[in-house]
Amino acid sequence: MDPILHIYDTPEETARAVADLILTNARSKNKLSLPINIAISGGSTPKLLFTLLANQYSDSIPWHFVRLFWVDERCVPPTHPESNFGMTYESLLKQVPIHDTNVFRMQGENNPETEAERYQKLLQNELPLKDGIPQFDLILLGMGDDGHTASIFPNDMSLLQSKLTVAVGVHPNGQKRITLTGPTINQAEQVVFLITGEAKKDVLRQIIRHESSREKFPAAHVHSANGEIEFYMDKSAASEL
Ligand code: 6PG
Repeated sequence: MDPILHIYDTPEETARAVADLILTNARSKNKLSLPINIAISGGSTPKLLFTLLANQYSDSIPWHFVRLFWVDERCVPPTHPESNFGMTYESLLKQVPIHDTNVFRMQGENNPETEAERYQKLLQNELPLKDGIPQFDLILLGMGDDGHTASIFPNDMSLLQSKLTVAVGVHPNGQKRITLTGPTINQAEQVVFLITGEAKKDVLRQIIRHESSREKFPAAHVHSANGEIEFYMDKSAASEL
C-alpha cells in the first residue's frame, strides 16, 4: 500500500497539521464518550508539536478523553535532560488539563528488562486487544537520520518481529531504551510519522520511493493495522520525493 503523504512549507505548519489530526480524532472519540489512546515519541520534532498543543490547543482538545502512552523512553530518570517524558512534561503535560491518571509513563529509571515487562503488562490491561496485541488509536512516530523509529535501530531489526509488545532497545551509542516493538506499532488504528528537516530527505526518499536500500531502515517496516502509513513532512524533508 502506498504511503499517504502530507507535505507542508515549514516544520511549524507540519506540526499544526498533526495537532489538528489529534484534535479531530479526540473530538470524534469524545462524541462517542470514548477515550483516545495515543502513543507519542520523543525527539526535537515531536517537541515542536507538544509546544504547539500546549500553546494553542489547550482549550480545544478534550484532554479529559486523552490517554497518553509512550512509544519509547530512554533508560534515564524522568528528570534527566534526555528523558522523553521529561521533555513532554515540560513542553506539554504541565500546561494542559490532562489527568495524571491518563498519563502512562515508561519508567526509565527502572531496570530496563523489568520496566519493559511492566509496561507490556500495563498495555495488556489498559488497551483494547486485537489478536492479543494492545491496539492504540494513534501512534506518533519520529524517524532518525539513520532510519530508526521508536527505539528500533538498524542494528536490531529483530524488534520489528518480536514476540514481545514492549522490549529493550539499544541505541548505537549503547544507551538502553524501552520501546514498543513492531507488532505493537503495526497493530495501531493509525500510524503517523512526523518528520522535518533536510537531514531526513535521503532516507525518506529511499523509503517512500521503495528503493531496494529501504529494507535496512526500521521506519520502512511500520504501518497501521490496515496497512496504511502516513508521513507528515515539511518541504525540506520531502525535497527529494
Ligand atoms: C527518541 C525517539 C526517536 C525520535 C527520532 C526522531 O526517543 O529519540 O523516539 O525515535 O523520534 O530519533 O527524532 P528527531 O525528531 O529529534 O529527529
